[in-house]
Amino acid sequence: MTKLPRRSLLEGLLALGAAGCAASATATAAGDRPQARPPTDAWQGVRDEFDVSPAWIHMTGFLLASHPRPVREAIEALRRELDDNPAHALEAHEDPAPVREAAAAYMGAGAEEIALTGSTTMGLASLYLGLPLRAGDEVLTTVHDHYATHESLRFAAERTGATVRKIALYERSSAATATEMAGAIEAAITPATRVVAITWVHSGSGVRTPVRAIAEVVARANQGRAPGDRVVCCVDGVHGFGVEDATMADLGCDFFAAGCHKWIFGPRGTGVLWGRAELWPMLRPSIPHFGQEGYGAWLRGQPAPPTTANMMTPGGFHAFEHRWALPAAFAFHRRIGKARVAARIHALNRQCKEGLQAMRHVTLHTPIDDAISAGLVCFEVAGMSTAAVVGRLRERKIIASAAPYATRYARVAPSLLNSEADVEAVLREVRALA
Ligand SMILES: Cc1ncc(COP(=O)(O)O)c(C=O)c1O
Repeated sequence: MTKLPRRSLLEGLLALGAAGCAASATATAAGDRPQARPPTDAWQGVRDEFDVSPAWIHMTGFLLASHPRPVREAIEALRRELDDNPAHALEAHEDPAPVREAAAAYMGAGAEEIALTGSTTMGLASLYLGLPLRAGDEVLTTVHDHYATHESLRFAAERTGATVRKIALYERSSAATATEMAGAIEAAITPATRVVAITWVHSGSGVRTPVRAIAEVVARANQGRAPGDRVVCCVDGVHGFGVEDATMADLGCDFFAAGCHKWIFGPRGTGVLWGRAELWPMLRPSIPHFGQEGYGAWLRGQPAPPTTANMMTPGGFHAFEHRWALPAAFAFHRRIGKARVAARIHALNRQCKEGLQAMRHVTLHTPIDDAISAGLVCFEVAGMSTAAVVGRLRERKIIASAAPYATRYARVAPSLLNSEADVEAVLREVRALA
C-alpha cells in the first residue's frame, strides 16, 4: 500500500499553526479507510514519521508504540553495531548515563534518580517488591488501578505480611473531581499506612488522578512521623507519560514507574522507574544490576553498598539496541515540545468526548474536564456489548480496544498518530451504531 508523501518532522512542525485542515479532494492511498480524503493538517509531518498502516485508523497508540522514524533509525544503527561486533558495542555503550540523562531531561529530574526497566510492569514490581514492608504495615491503593499494580502489591504483601487496602476514589468516573479523589486518600490513610499506590491515568476509565494533590495529602500525613513510619507515594504514570506537560517535581510523588513504549513512542521493551534521590537506599533489589556499584563490591568481596537507582536497573543482557535507542524517543517529544504534545492530545480527546457526549445512545465514562482526563476516552453504547462495539469499529477499519478490567468499557485514544478527521470518523461510526 502506497504511503502518503513524507514530509520531514521539522517541516511539519514549521507548518504548525499555519495550515488549517486543508484536505485533498482525491481518494487516498488509505483505500477503504472511512474518511474519503487524506488529512493534511499541520500535524501531518509528525504523523508521517510513523510507519503505521494507513489502511486503519489507529486509536490504540497507547497499547504499544509504533516506532517513529528517528527511533527506528537509532535502533537499526545500534543493531548493526551489535551484529558487527557485540563485545565492542557493549564496551562502547556500557555507561547507561546517556540514556538516563535523556530520560532525566525529559522528566525534569536527575539522571541519578532513574532506573532503566523493560516496562511499567517491571518498574512497579521491582518497586513494590523492593519496599521495606513488614507485617502490620498497610498499603493503600485503589480499585481503579491496573492489574500490574494490584498483582505487584499482592506479591509484596504475601512476602512481607503487609496488607493491601483498595478504596474507590469516585463513584462515577465521568463525574470525578480532584478534590473528591485527594479527599478519599486523605480519609483512608491510617497510622499503619506505609505506601499510597496510585495510577496517574486510569486505563479503565480515562480518569486522570490529581497526583500533586494526593502527594500533598501524603506529605501532610508524614508530618511528625518517624522516618521508618513514613508513607511513600508511588505512581503508575504510564498513561500520562508522553501526554502531559509535567515534571517529576510538578507531580510531587516519591516514585514513578512508566513504560516508554506507549505514549513516549520509545523502543518496545523500555521503561523507567524514577524516585527521589534520598529514597533509593530504602529499596531492596530483586535482580542483580550489572554495574560498578553492585558488581564491583561483589568482585572485591565487599558488602553491597546502599541501593541506588542504578542498582535497581535489572542486570543481565537485554535487547540493548532498544534500550540504547531510547534517547531518540525523548528527543522526538522534546523537538515537538511537551506543551504542544499535551495541547494536541487534549484537543483531539476533547473533540472525541464532546462528540460522544452528544449521542443519546452513548454513555461517556471519561470526564470532559481536561484537568481530570488525558488521552483515553472510555464509553459504552446502549444495547451493545463492548466486544460488539470494538468489533463493529474494526469492521469499519477503526482500531479501538476493550479495557482489560472487570468492567470493560470501549476505549479510543486519539494521539499524535491521529488527525481531527480520524476523530470525526470514529464519531461517525459510533453514531451509526444507534
Ligand atoms: C495503567 C497501566 N499500567 C500498566 C500497564 C502495563 O504497561 P507495560 O506494558 O509497560 O508493563 C498498562 C497497560 O498495558 C496500563 O494500562
